[in-house]
Amino acid sequence: MPFAAAGLALAACSPAPAPPADPASLSPKDAHLAELYDGACKACHAAAGSGAPLVQDKAAWAPRWKQGEDVLLDHVVQGYKGMPALGQCAACTPDDFKGLIRFLAGHEGKTR
Ligand code: HEC
Repeated sequence: MPFAAAGLALAACSPAPAPPADPASLSPKDAHLAELYDGACKACHAAAGSGAPLVQDKAAWAPRWKQGEDVLLDHVVQGYKGMPALGQCAACTPDDFKGLIRFLAGHEGKTR
């Protein structure tokens, strides 16, 4: 049974379990936000290795979310380290940014 043996060998040295959702498969529920997200934020926030906190990565977003929404919004609008000003979304309004930040941080649809 060479195939079974190969399967066992792979299982034995497989890396840590995969994260629950593939970042590339996530998208805001709101169609308008989804369009903005796909055209801007997604290029970095769904790409491991871009330096951006990955979409809905709890560990990455928890300390950032604690800063409060006003600070996060300010960092998006003004830019912050590797985060470009306006997140490369010239068409986004402040309300759009708030919705996108909530989605990225895993707080979509929550009041707080
Ligand atoms: C060119 C890549 C790029 C794009 C496009 C981008 N981001 Fe970012 N973003 C980053 C990086 C890199 C960071 C991490 C900055 C750091 O803390 O070093 C970041 C951080 C953030 C943060 C956390 C800021 C903080 O205070 O911790 C928010 C919120 C954010 N991005 C929102 C967005 C939104 C919303 C969009 C789309 C409108 C977007 N980003 C588009 C690269 C990008």
